[in-house]
Amino acid sequence: MGTEQVDQIRRAALGAIESVGDAQELDAVRVEYLGRKGRVKALLATLGHLPEAERPARGEAINALKAELAAALSARHVVLSGAERKRAEARAAVDVTLPGRGEVAGAEHPLKTTLKRIERLFVGAGFEVAEGPEIEDEYYNFEALNIPPDHPARAMHDTFYLADGRLLRTHTSPVQIRHIKKIGGPPVWMISPGRVYRRDSDLTHTPMFHQIEGLVIDEGIHMGHLKWVLGEFIKAFFECELDLRFRPSYFPFTEPSAELDVACVRCDGAGCRVCSGSGWLEVLGCGMVHPRVLAGVGIDPERYTGFAFGMGVERLAMLRYRVEDLRRFFENDVRFLAQFA
Ligand code: PHE
Repeated sequence: MGTEQVDQIRRAALGAIESVGDAQELDAVRVEYLGRKGRVKALLATLGHLPEAERPARGEAINALKAELAAALSARHVVLSGAERKRAEARAAVDVTLPGRGEVAGAEHPLKTTLKRIERLFVGAGFEVAEGPEIEDEYYNFEALNIPPDHPARAMHDTFYLADGRLLRTHTSPVQIRHIKKIGGPPVWMISPGRVYRRDSDLTHTPMFHQIEGLVIDEGIHMGHLKWVLGEFIKAFFECELDLRFRPSYFPFTEPSAELDVACVRCDGAGCRVCSGSGWLEVLGCGMVHPRVLAGVGIDPERYTGFAFGMGVERLAMLRYRVEDLRRFFENDVRFLAQFA
């Protein structure tokens, strides 16, 4: 065994260190050469077979080989781990030159838009906006509106009652009474938007919906004022001429009473499922304030007269936006809502 054996191991080891591709392979090379049962250890074990005089030089050569391989291993380790880090970074990298995915901006709900639009039109005409509670008592929701306890009209209201005898208001008309009491008396020019509740659910009814109440009381107010105000409102709201009809109706708190119908926008009056075949859609109830309602809040019906109306906001939004199923407004499907943004 001569020095060429040391050289041979050196070449083989350096070649292996150079050719490995990752830290794991490099560690295998380390074990093979510098491990406890490695080839350098085996080389040291041969020292004993050498003549004594050659041992120091050979020992030195082997130690030098050991040091050289250790240095080569650690240098290669630095290179490999640097490359690996770069690869990991490349995998995790963000391409800042890619175009962004964008954010979807939220938008106002179409019912809110409709409410605000109706409010704006009436406020522009001199009406004041009033609000009332959604939990009412029988007095405001019924009695003060000329609907005594045994009145058949109560059955039409499909009322949600609370355990304490109060109820969820079935219409915004109770705000008429609250507002008159609050401001003391005529002249009254009021609208009142808000939520109302009825035990009802189908294509054109939801258990909760929105109404806008209107109330005008002054000297000399007559049915002509009512028809003019509502006709102008419908024209301004739809920004077009729509066929209208005032149909005689009945409400305990107005006399005479009427319902205002608008020609069905889906079938243009021919009759379809949206208008239940009638060709008309009912958008509001109205009438001249019943003298008993006025007297009940201390207004002299001989001196003052007034008109009132209550309109369905969902109904108006459906007509304006050509939505066929009222329930869509409450399903919170962004694909539906995004169309109004
Ligand atoms: N409150 C009535 C309803 O909900 C609508 C209405 C309001 C009718 C004012 C006449 C006057 O059906």
